[in-house]
Amino acid sequence: MGSVLLPVSLLLAATCLVSGSPPTPSGPFWVHINPEVKAVRPGGSVWLNCSHSCPLPESSSLRTQLQQGGMLRGPGWISYQLLDVRAWSSNVRCVVTCAGETREATATITAYKRPDSVIMEAPVLVGHKYTLRCYVTHVFPVGFLVVTFKRGSRVIYFESLERFTGPNLANVTLTYVVRAGPNDLWQPLTCHARLNLDGLVVHSSSAPVMLTVQALSPVAKALASTSIAALVGILLAVGVAYVRKCLEMQSQ
Ligand SMILES: *[C@@H]1O[C@H](CO)[C@@H](O)[C@H](O)[C@H]1NC(C)=O
Ligand SMILES: *[C@@H]1O[C@H](CO)[C@@H](O)[C@H](O)[C@H]1NC(C)=O
Repeated sequence: MGSVLLPVSLLLAATCLVSGSPPTPSGPFWVHINPEVKAVRPGGSVWLNCSHSCPLPESSSLRTQLQQGGMLRGPGWISYQLLDVRAWSSNVRCVVTCAGETREATATITAYKRPDSVIMEAPVLVGHKYTLRCYVTHVFPVGFLVVTFKRGSRVIYFESLERFTGPNLANVTLTYVVRAGPNDLWQPLTCHARLNLDGLVVHSSSAPVMLTVQALSPVAKALASTSIAALVGILLAVGVAYVRKCLEMQSQ
């Protein structure tokens, strides 16, 4: 055994003499972080691998506001775990110092969640008005959400929820009261939820619903009596035409 080990230790000693001590990088060293951009679910975790070309770094660290978890090391790399990511967007810097020189690589971790559902309640006409109500469930970050109500293809209302800065998934309910117009009964109503995340746009829409008429509302009565009047008018006209035709036939 000793005879086998001896040449190896001689070889190591020789390598040390050749490369010099302490080891210094030849030219500028590099630092990489992988992945550089990563999206996670809010509350999720992620591993980032920071690698470098420095033979013997004086220091290396990960600088971030996010909570750090586990760590794995290998030659030329350290992998860091980040926990409970709740900020919409976080910068992470891997900083390595080698032979007095400091370099860094940065990554961006984002957290968002497409809504589980966007549901538009079927509105009921009450008097001259109806209320649109839309439920957006399990969405994040709410502060980047814009909710839009449409009648047919026309936007009738939109709201940006910038003021909500909570760190958790949320359910959002939006209501808007609309004055009924003459064509409102025949157009589909939809609700649209859009997350606009610095260029990444996540869009979800509700199924279309139709406005229904409450049995005894004055507008409903008015609408109903208008259509009855129109029907009566048509029947009368047909009746008159029929009578006229009969008379013509009899006179022939
Ligand atoms: C980290 O990156 C290095 C260099 O690319 C690679 O050799 C190593 O396997 C990676 N480690 C993990 C835990 O992914
Ligand atoms: C949001 O709504 C879903 C489904 O309606 C419900 O299960 C959940 O508990 C709600 N979450 C919050 C935070 O209110």
